[in-house]
Amino acid sequence: TQLLHEELPDVEIMVVSNREPYIHNRTPEGEISLQLPASGLVSALEPVMRTCGGTWIAHGSGSADHDTVDEHDRLRVPPAHPEYTLRRVWLSDEEIDGHYYGFSNEGLWPLCHTAFVRPLFRAEDWEAYRAVNQKFADVVVAEAGREDPIVLVQDYHFALLPRMIRNALPKATIITFWHIPWPNGETFGICPWREEIIDGLLGSTVLGFHTRQHCNNFLDATDRFMESRIDREQGSVILRGRDTLIRPYPISIEWPPAALATQGSIAECRRAVHARLGLADDVRIAVGIERFDYTKGILDRMAAVHDLLTQHPEWKEKIAFVQAAAPTRSKLGAYDKLQSDAVRLADAINAAHGTAGWKPIHLVIRHHDQREVYELFRAADVCVVSSLHDGMNLVAKEFVAARDDEQGVLVLSSFAGASRELSEALIVNPYDTRAMADAFAVALRMPESEQRDRMRLMRDVVRQRNVHRWAAQMLIDAARIRRRETIQALT
Ligand code: G6P
Repeated sequence: TQLLHEELPDVEIMVVSNREPYIHNRTPEGEISLQLPASGLVSALEPVMRTCGGTWIAHGSGSADHDTVDEHDRLRVPPAHPEYTLRRVWLSDEEIDGHYYGFSNEGLWPLCHTAFVRPLFRAEDWEAYRAVNQKFADVVVAEAGREDPIVLVQDYHFALLPRMIRNALPKATIITFWHIPWPNGETFGICPWREEIIDGLLGSTVLGFHTRQHCNNFLDATDRFMESRIDREQGSVILRGRDTLIRPYPISIEWPPAALATQGSIAECRRAVHARLGLADDVRIAVGIERFDYTKGILDRMAAVHDLLTQHPEWKEKIAFVQAAAPTRSKLGAYDKLQSDAVRLADAINAAHGTAGWKPIHLVIRHHDQREVYELFRAADVCVVSSLHDGMNLVAKEFVAARDDEQGVLVLSSFAGASRELSEALIVNPYDTRAMADAFAVALRMPESEQRDRMRLMRDVVRQRNVHRWAAQMLIDAARIRRRETIQALT
């Protein structure tokens, strides 16, 4: 924080994301209850905003039938100790269908994850996407207290926003972070509006991805489809005389995570989870925790549990695989199908291997709050992250952060950005069921001393490269460019 104040004295920080950090739900009794959404983006950015302060502009979850700004649209959060302002923007059902469900989640999400779900591109969705980006650009301009704010634009819902803000506020410093993978140039070329999207993103001062590979893929796409100058050494693109710095900034979590402060001991967490799931004392626990998304490889890891029990029947009645899955985007066919496929597969595996008092798979389909998530992490012998493709994956880092006892084994997909940093995990290819089953067997037998060695190294990485560093690096890069621009304007 101190470094930031030195690099960036007297600035206004604004964040734009689709998902808001606090979902306000009304209970049946009419009270307001708050929920932290299951979103890697929110887990990462919320601690940063608590430290930096400023304004976070996001789509207000739930519906509101007004267009004018009233007191519910500008809130100070977190409610108990307000640190920053949440400005909620309301979208109509048609806007949500076209922008969020349509272009963002049926178009860009499968396009960028290359998880073999066909991206759908409809002209109406694109229109809604553009209109919603413009709506947020107008809110940024209206909320900005000065002509040169620092605006942090988040994710694939807002590819056009950087250019729109740049046009309206030429002196703004725009830092855009793309939280999901960027595919190779040829794959990206499927998108009918590829030029507009790249042009929109190049309105940014700094454009960040999780990995060097995603940066290179973006530069390839730019090279193919845009008339621009690319400096691969510097990692920058010059389009119509303006520079954008393209760099990897691997996202992370806060250290130590706030949710850890209220947790019981490891033994208490184990007892609680065993009791809740009705497990015998000697049953070992493997967990998977995420949104119910087809990119996460949930079916693949269940298939590996089946393979483990077939190849290594000695684990029967000795292991429970707990899959906590938060329903998400259920309105879309691909998500709805995943949920029913997963229920069917879990039932089939439980029928094949289960015994009177034991079943191998516990599929718990609901939102889990932070306290429950960390309790599961602390109760687990093994945590499985088997994404078919993932920008970073913060579950892997949260598991590591949760284990202050330096025990527990992480089984991690080589296709998650996190595998670049957490190389002491057991790295697997989730498409290779047998290899994943073998990794489970290795994890379950790993001696405590080896678990400790691996966990220590991974904990060092997450501690050092925490989310404040992620944010600080982008802000420091942007601050240098900002100073350079000020000097150029004077000469
Ligand atoms: C990913 C995306 C985020 C998104 C989150 C949850 O992490 O990169 O932008 O917020 O998933 O998805 P949802 O659609 O519920 O916001």
